[in-house]
Amino acid sequence: MEAILLVGGQGTRLRPLTISTPKPLLPTAGVPFLAHQLARAHAAGVERIVFATSYRAEMFEAAFGRRAHGVELVYVSEEEPLGTGGAIRNAARALTCGPDDPVLILNGDILSGHDIRAQVELHEKTGAAVTLHLTEVDDPSRFGCVPTDDEGRVTAFLEKTPNPVTNRINAGCYVFRRSAIDAIPADTVVSVERETFPGLIASGAVVMGHVETGYWMDVGTPQAFVRGSCDLVLGRLASPAMPGEPGERLVLDGAVVSPGAVVRGGTTVGRGAVVEAGATVSGSVLLDEVVVAEGATVCDSVLSRGARVGPGAVLEGVVLGDGAVVGPGNELRGGLRVWPGIELPPTAVRFSTDA
Ligand code: GDD
Ligand code: MG
Repeated sequence: MEAILLVGGQGTRLRPLTISTPKPLLPTAGVPFLAHQLARAHAAGVERIVFATSYRAEMFEAAFGRRAHGVELVYVSEEEPLGTGGAIRNAARALTCGPDDPVLILNGDILSGHDIRAQVELHEKTGAAVTLHLTEVDDPSRFGCVPTDDEGRVTAFLEKTPNPVTNRINAGCYVFRRSAIDAIPADTVVSVERETFPGLIASGAVVMGHVETGYWMDVGTPQAFVRGSCDLVLGRLASPAMPGEPGERLVLDGAVVSPGAVVRGGTTVGRGAVVEAGATVSGSVLLDEVVVAEGATVCDSVLSRGARVGPGAVLEGVVLGDGAVVGPGNELRGGLRVWPGIELPPTAVRFSTDA
């Protein structure tokens, strides 16, 4: 089977992490995020994937080359972003399958444990034009809300509606009949969520929902990104791309964690990073060359490449950009984001090791 991977978004909600690296390439449990999706797609029988790129397009081929995780890779770039539907149509130029064959489409920011083969089977059995993976969430207003009838046929598609009619949502993994992709208008901006799906339903085409409510996460916000990475390290979602065995922490080559430090909760410690004695790091992602100094506390946070946390500083739910420096004694909490290269001076109340 062939697949199209949508990876052209700007990842604005993940800034400043996505200033230098597109969201799908952010290191997640030790490997680029997409490695987990590629490995899972391969396990489900996908042999060839077309990357639909736009933002920082050249970085994808540099990261994965022509073959990775057992899958042949092809790259198609949009000069201007064409939206999700336009991107699928544009990438379809590189498909080799026939008009009735199933094509898997994946949003490039989803961690999911669902059974892709079962979704494809439902698609084939019902002769659908499109079959969507649906999951359930507490706040459906942030997603595509997708009601179905008793047979599982989709009756409406309501993208980011303030008044959701069900908590079943579009989980960002579709099976399209190839001919349904070719029917999307070419060379123009199209939203699959706001135009293609509602249009197919209105025209009477069969659109099916494959409901599965196991592990599922859209890593589009810093909070979700750090949660997803920790869940992979802890083994809450099995990934064939995870380096090493699941456990409380993943310490990559060349990282130095002092025996007097506590690192847990699925934290990844990047290459060349240092965690000094008396520091506590939990449920976090430390990218390469990060330094967490003695007595500092870091939880639920993402520290980008080369960021440094001074002695006794406290970070809770924080994002540090590349090379940002938090001076000794600072306390940062609640979603605060520090842009690359910013240096916060030490606080007036100096940290003391005898305190
Ligand atoms: N090539 C290309 N071109 N890719 C794009 C473009 C584009 O113009 N716009 C978005 N994408 C890619 C993004 O990179 C991402 O992988 C995917 O399309 C979805 O975009 P997001 O920006 O992450 O959308 P969302 O999370 O707000 O909503 C989507 O996903 C939800 C599930 O997480 C929608 O599909 C919702 O209906 C769905 O519930
Ligand atoms: Mg998303």
